[in-house]
Amino acid sequence: MDASQHTAVGDERFARGRLDEAMAAYRQALAASPGFAAARVGLDAILERARTPQPNAPLVALLLEGYADEGANWDALGWGAAHQLVVGWPKAATPEAMAGNPLLLQFLRKSLNRDATLERHLLALRAATAKALQPPDPPPAVAALAGAIAEQAWLNEYIWPDDPAVPDGVAGAMFRSQPEPRPEAVEERRLAAGLPELAPITDAVSQSVAAMYEANPYPRWTHLPRKPTLDIRARLLRDFPHARAVDFAAPLAVLMPGAGTGQHPLSVASTYETVEVTAVDLSRASLAYGKRMAARYGIGNITFLRGDILDLPKLGRVFDHVECVGVLHHMADPRAGLLSIASVMRPGAFLRLGLYGEGGRKIVEKARRDIAAARIPATLDGLRDFRRRVMGGDLKRLSGLVEWEDFWSASLLRDLCFHVQEHRFTIPRLRAFLKDSGLTFLGFEFTAGSAHRAVADADPVALYRARFRTEPTLSDLERWEQLEREKPALFAGYAFVCQKD
Ligand SMILES: C[S@@+](CC[C@H](N)C(=O)[O-])C[C@H]1O[C@@H](n2cnc3c(N)ncnc32)[C@H](O)[C@@H]1O
Repeated sequence: MDASQHTAVGDERFARGRLDEAMAAYRQALAASPGFAAARVGLDAILERARTPQPNAPLVALLLEGYADEGANWDALGWGAAHQLVVGWPKAATPEAMAGNPLLLQFLRKSLNRDATLERHLLALRAATAKALQPPDPPPAVAALAGAIAEQAWLNEYIWPDDPAVPDGVAGAMFRSQPEPRPEAVEERRLAAGLPELAPITDAVSQSVAAMYEANPYPRWTHLPRKPTLDIRARLLRDFPHARAVDFAAPLAVLMPGAGTGQHPLSVASTYETVEVTAVDLSRASLAYGKRMAARYGIGNITFLRGDILDLPKLGRVFDHVECVGVLHHMADPRAGLLSIASVMRPGAFLRLGLYGEGGRKIVEKARRDIAAARIPATLDGLRDFRRRVMGGDLKRLSGLVEWEDFWSASLLRDLCFHVQEHRFTIPRLRAFLKDSGLTFLGFEFTAGSAHRAVADADPVALYRARFRTEPTLSDLERWEQLEREKPALFAGYAFVCQKD
């Protein structure tokens, strides 16, 4: 069997929950063809889920192999690695002992920690490491550990508590950003100044949203995992066979409004077959981050443009495909944003959208109320204070926030709980939002990433199929509304696809 056949076996076993067999098949695929992207994706998905009651040496070896592979998904590996670190954390976790733990060093440098227990261990280790650095000539291994903790602190944007008693320098870099800027930051400032601008930002909400993302570009990321190439239109026509098949000339012109720091646009530019991507955002700092990363990965088929979605018609051109995730709910009038996007879409073009759902964000709503009541500012100190209250039990009703992927760094947490503008959708609101927009709703995408890891209490697709046997397209929003009425938490958020009429 070749790599793709082994991978097909892995995918089939994975879908049936037979993870050990799936893992063996993916490993055989990678043995046959070491860079085989689909097998890497499958193996990483298993390592992400791997949990053992005791430390497991073969699993640790696989995680280390993953961290050694530039094409692996280090974000996914981080979940499995954090678990191994927690179950194996020694009673005497001295800096000298922990400096010899290769999984810890890799994890700190490459994956953002999202585990509350591990955070407590890491904070204690950080304090001990700062102390161990004090005498002249600390052991080089301890200095290396300090360097790795400092990388983690950079990744989480210094969201952990500061200790002003620790001086700047090697030790201080584990606690706060240092007076000497990192080379990436210098490069981004240069790139930000040179970005072309669509039009000056005049909308008042857009201005305050821009200010927020200038201060905290979302998200900070370091690494682009390898993925198999994808013919996106063929995939969407396969997933939504009721869509209209319209042929577009290559390259496909892709618009990504609200591009953020480029993680999603770079993934699209490097994995979708023959595309030219236009990435638009309000925030120069975010776009500059993306532009720096595009240069690092040698991705040339992407243009970065500073501007407001409301001004897209000023581009004077149309696009064949649009992806806009986590953006329109931050506009004063999301429907105005939608209409602006629709106006630059070619007939037959697909639009993939991601929007917040009311049902899935109850805890965030409570958090926003508590933050307003306690007048916690959206500054780094405010974010740290808020986390201290949530994790320390002061705000018990918010303790479930640690289940959210966006709790764990400054830009993520600010986006999650401190946003200057947030709308939340329900199916009735979605119907009103799409009505007369010139876009036809094709269906939801249930495999798209969800912002928190709690398992939904029902499988929406199975529910719909069982209830509405005569409607095979799963695209009737009235029927979805009926299901949501019965199960208000059916959707954590809404990821869906529309087609331009
Ligand atoms: C939560 S981030 C999402 C970034 C990216 N789409 C992702 O999924 O990682 C929202 C982004 O939308 C941008 N944004 C919000 N309103 C916008 C508008 N009116 N025009 C352009 N960009 C906007 C923000 O600047 C920010 O970078």
